[in-house]
Formats: sequence, C-alpha cells, structure tokens
Amino acid sequence: MTRKLFVTTALPYANAAFHIGHIMEYIQADIWVRFQRMQRDGAAGREVHFVGADDTHGTPIMIAAEKEGITPQQFVANIAAGRAQYLDGFHIAFDNWYSTDSPENVDLSQSIYRKLRDTGLIVTKTVDRFFDPVKGMFLADRNIKGECPKCGAKNQYGDNCEVCGAAYQPTDLVNPFSVFTNATPVMKPSEQYFFKLSDPRCFEFLKDWLNTPGRLQPEMVNKVSEWLGEAGEKLADWDISRDAPYFGIPIPDAPGKFFYVWMDAPVGYLASLKNYCDKKGIDFDAFLNDPTTEQIHFIGKDIVSFHLLFWPAMLKFANHPVIDKLKVNVHGFLTVNNEKMSKSRGTGISPLRYLDLGMNPEWLRYYIAFKLNSKVEDLDFNGEDFVARVNSDLIGKYVNIASRCAGFIAKRFDGKLASTLSEGAQSWINRALTVDVNGVIVERQASIAAHFENREFGKALREIMEIADITNQYVDENKPWILAKDVEKTAELHDVCTTALILFRQLTILLSPVLPGVAKNVASFLNDAEFTWADTQVFGDAVSNSMLGRTIGAYSHLMTRMDAKMIEALFDAPQTAATIAAPAGDAANDAAAPAAAAAAIEELAPEIKIDDFLKVDLRIAKIVNCELVDGSDKLLRLTLDAGEGRLRNVFSGIRSAYQPEELIGKLTVLVANLAPRKMKFGISEGMVMAASAADEKANPGIYILNPWPGAEPGMRIR
Ligand code: MSP
Ligand code: ZN
Repeated sequence: MTRKLFVTTALPYANAAFHIGHIMEYIQADIWVRFQRMQRDGAAGREVHFVGADDTHGTPIMIAAEKEGITPQQFVANIAAGRAQYLDGFHIAFDNWYSTDSPENVDLSQSIYRKLRDTGLIVTKTVDRFFDPVKGMFLADRNIKGECPKCGAKNQYGDNCEVCGAAYQPTDLVNPFSVFTNATPVMKPSEQYFFKLSDPRCFEFLKDWLNTPGRLQPEMVNKVSEWLGEAGEKLADWDISRDAPYFGIPIPDAPGKFFYVWMDAPVGYLASLKNYCDKKGIDFDAFLNDPTTEQIHFIGKDIVSFHLLFWPAMLKFANHPVIDKLKVNVHGFLTVNNEKMSKSRGTGISPLRYLDLGMNPEWLRYYIAFKLNSKVEDLDFNGEDFVARVNSDLIGKYVNIASRCAGFIAKRFDGKLASTLSEGAQSWINRALTVDVNGVIVERQASIAAHFENREFGKALREIMEIADITNQYVDENKPWILAKDVEKTAELHDVCTTALILFRQLTILLSPVLPGVAKNVASFLNDAEFTWADTQVFGDAVSNSMLGRTIGAYSHLMTRMDAKMIEALFDAPQTAATIAAPAGDAANDAAAPAAAAAAIEELAPEIKIDDFLKVDLRIAKIVNCELVDGSDKLLRLTLDAGEGRLRNVFSGIRSAYQPEELIGKLTVLVANLAPRKMKFGISEGMVMAASAADEKANPGIYILNPWPGAEPGMRIR
C-alpha cells in the first residue's frame, strides 16, 4: 500500500523575515519529507505533498502596513517575496508556498465555520472591550499601553510587563492609552463569536484523540491532558471573532466581524494544499478522503494549544476526513549560545548572513539534524560545537573516504571500478553495513530508516558515522597511498579503492535526506540515477553488484572544512563570537591579542580650554524606558528623564552591549545640548555617553556611564 502524506510546517507570521528558529523547523520537516520521498512502497513512489504558507492576518501586520503607508496585502507580498532565498538557500523543498490571505482560505475557513455553527458549536456572548474613541476601533492587547499594575513601569503593553514580567489583562493597566492616538480607551460592549470548546462533545473527542497510541509525543499527551481537566472542566470557550477594522476573513452572516487570525491560520494548511492540487491537477477532495492519507504538522512548542486543542476539535466537528490520521510533531526551541530567541528580533545569527558569507547550508542541516531527536527538547546552536561537529564528521570522516580513494580510480584504472571483490573486502563491507543483534545479523539501514521515520535524526547520524568510522579504519589498515607505490599491488589497490567507494556510496545514500546537495553531486560523480532507499539494502550483495565494473566520473571536491573565523563573522555581537569561535587550542592566543593591544589607546584629542569644555552640557539622566528599534540591529531607543519636566527620545548604538531591560531605571550621562538629529527611526534629542576601545575589532565592548549613587536626574556634570 502506498502511503500518502500531507506534511506541513507552522505558517510563519508574515510580519518579518525568517530567523534561524524558523529555518530549524523547516530543516527538520524537510529531512523527514526527503526520507519519505526516497521510499518506494512496492514499485510506486510514496505520495508526499509538503506545503507551507505565510500567516498573514491580524492586527500587528495591519498596523505595520499602516506605518509604512501600504496596504496589508502589499506588506504581506513584500515579505512573501523574500521567502524563496531562504528556502532555496537551505535546500528546503516545499512543493508549494502560499498565503492565508487567499480565496481558497476564505472558502475553506468559512465553510468550516458554517459546519461548526450547524452542529451547534458556535455561540455569541457580549463582552466589554477596550475601544479607542478617536480612531473608532476596538483595541487588541498590544494596542494598549499604560503603567504596569504590579511594578508601576510606564509604557507597558496590555498583556504583560517587559520590566517585571507580570501578565495581566489590558483592563488592569494604570492610566491606559491607545498606542494609535494616545486617547484614553473606553469600555464598549461588543458581541463576540465563540467556539464552544466547553461542549462535552469536544472533551469526549479530544480525550480519545489525544490518547490514540502513536499519535503524539508522550510528553504532549500529558501536557494537553492537563489542559482538559478530569472531565473537561478546564476547557473554556474560545473567542474566534475580532471587530472591524481587522485584516482578516469576514465571518459569514456577521457584518463587521472577522475571524481571529488563529482561526483561519491552520486552515491555511489546507488552503495551500488545495492551491497546489489545483495547479497540479490533483483531486484535493479525493486525496483527503483517501483512507490512507496521513496529515502531519511540524510545529514548535509555543503553539501547541492551537494545534492540539482547537485545530483537531475544529476539524473533527467540521467532518474533516483526515482527523483519524492527523499527527502533530512538536519540537523544542533553538537557542543560540544558550540565549533565547525573541519572535521579533531573532537572534545573533541571521540565516541570510550565513548564506551571504558563503557558509555551506548543508553544514547547518547536518548540525541541526545531529542535535535533533523526537522529543520536545530545546537545542542549542553553539559556534564552537558546530565547527567541531561538521569538520570532524562531514570532512574528517565522510568526505575523507572519497578524497583518499577516488583519485586512484581515475588515474590508475581509467575511472573503472574493480569487477570483483576479494573476500576480505566483501567481509569489511558486511562488517560496516550490518550489525549483530543477539546473534542475528541485521542491516544497519533498517535501524537508520526507523530513526529517520521516528524523527530520531541524531541517532540516525550517529549510526551512519559508525559506518564511516569502520570504512576509515579499513582504508587506514589497507593504505591505498602505499599500495599505489608498488606496481605488483595494483589489483589490491583496485580492490581497496573500489570497496571504499562502495561504502562511500552507501554513506551518501543514507545521508541524502540531510545532505541533498552533496548526494546529488555524488550521484553524478558515481554515474548513478537518483538514489532511493532501496539502494541501501545490502543483503544479496545488491550493493557491490551494482557498483562492480562501473565507470565513474571524475571526483571533484564535495565540501570544504569550516573555518572557525566564519563563525565570528556570523554573529551580530562580536563579543559573544570571540569567546565561542576559537577552537580550544587557539583560545589562549586569541585572548592574548586584546591584552597586547590594550597599551595602544586612542590618541588624545587636541588640548582645549575650560570654556571649550563648558560648551558641552552634560546632565544626569534617568533611563525611564528602553526598547529595541525595529529594523536596526545597532540601536536602542532610550526614553530619558533629565529633570526637565519632559522626556527625551535618544537613539544609541549600544544594542550589541545591552538588553533593554538591563537599562530601564538606571542613571546615565546625557549630552544635553547637542542639536537634535533626525534619524531614519525618528528624532534623537541628545546622546548618551559610552566608553569603547580604540580598536573596536579587537575589543568590541561598549560601556555606558553610570554615576555614583546619590546623583539625580538633571544634575550638571562639570
Ligand atoms: N503564525 C504562527 C503559526 C501559525 S500555524 C497555523 C506562528 N508563527 S511564528 O513565525 O511565530 O512561528 C513559526 C514557527 O517557528 C512555530 O512553529 C514556532 O514554534 C517556530 N519557532 C519560532 N521560534 C523558534 C525557535 N527559536 N526555535 C525553533 N522554532 C521556533 O507561531
Ligand atoms: Zn511590571
């Protein structure tokens, strides 16, 4: 029976470019999909449709577009236009990339909604909502700011405080104001549409669905079961409506109401598939109604409630045919040097910079795969570890086999492999590709396949590297470079190099879900058509038979070693890079460099008189707020109180050295009589003072000034 697979990754918000966390999710799904595509169920290939889309609706995108003076559709189109460079760059082979702002999604979302309504699962309730009387618009949590009800910090959003971390309702804010007009919001009743998750039918269904063996990771079953409560008492109705103006899909028969973005976002999976099917002439309904079709979502741990409560319940009660074959694979978060990545600002590593630096995308695919397992665990990208892993496994173990043996085949044997193998060689092949499990010889490819199928990529790669280790041991013991010096050993040389290349081909096939580009080059070098998983089966000597006597092409270098210096260039904040980039052996030398350079301070400026100095008005200022600047990785936006009875807005190039939260509430020194300067992001009214070394490359630290206790905002420094 041919498996039919419909695979997706979470639909990324179309408000920003991809960050490395997105790329991690796509790499995970892409490896799994490529593995599936290599399978043959009988003669037929497996039918796999792998689709993605931009998640376009909601208030943040509407507002971002308004700020840029374009329509949300244009805004989203601009973001969408930037997607391909990432996906192509990292060999992520979606069959289709689409959008939730599409006619298919309107149809599908509205039709699911109608079915839910017909089955009695949609209810309306009137609730009080904040409303901006000037703009004439209901306000989402993030459209309202005010003082934190817990710690009193100013300028905090309506959902949580960035200073003390407290979570609350927008109605709890002290002195709330609308971010659009600064007007004080008023409470206004609004009729809202709810999906009735509290209905006993939802609990009955979800309980069974979650507990179906093999459907979900055990830790997810536990977590979500807690959300249900013993008898469903914890399931609350879910508000799926938003008031106009809203960038979204209209709710049928409800003028002025739109679907909350999380209602239509997962329907976007189906919309993208439908769009793909229509383009390819595939019957969408027939595919979904086929009892063998499996629907598989790859998502991160932060969006579990949407995918394991609302989405299955929506699908079930809208009679979605695949509900019994629906699986959700949840992954943990990628951290970079153990630092959390924020949704809006990403992390130090930009995927595009990675590509621009000419770093090989398959290094990253390998490293991420090596660290992945089937659990919901976070995984850390660590520069030093990355370099070591790639250089040791891919270059030192894998590529090394071909680079040590292929040349002899070309030079000495006209590119032709031996037509027979010695018994010794054949037994090494068996040794490398099979293992003895309690007295039974089994093929390694079967357990490697099981690891790929179960998303235990790290285990798969460890086992593949064991094959590489045995192969290298074989080459080391037989030393083709010595055999090559003795004409009488020509046949032996042929035997050894042929054997090594047979194993190299096996390794390549096993690695090809992870290294598709390399696999393609190896296939062409070995004169192979496309590799399939069937080529990994060794029993019956199929492996060697297909290679014996074959003429192969010229070997050209497959992959270069990674230079640790590249990692340095990859990070935004050079301080972190310097500490992680150097391999252990070089660390001492690197550390010595800034110390030696420390003597070379910047030359003193020409002498001035006291009057000259007094022209500069330096004041103590309190940093009452500090935030990231959208679109800049250098600047922070400071709100300063210099005791003047007004606040100043100052941009400062200290983003690499400080997190905004660290600075809020601190005192510093402001150049208070500097002419205001218009910058791309707004007007900067002064400058905060900071120390830095003459050689910013060697010593990139930036240190802002902080007075001794007792100084007060407004005091002059002289
Ligand atoms: N738009 C929603 C998903 C809608 S699905 C119908 C969304 N978008 S997102 O852009 O914020 O995140 C997209 C995916 O990236 C999610 O699966 C999320 O978990 C994942 N990741 C976001 N940050 C991540 C890491 N740091 N590491 C790994 N994955 C991360 O949520
Ligand atoms: Zn607070």
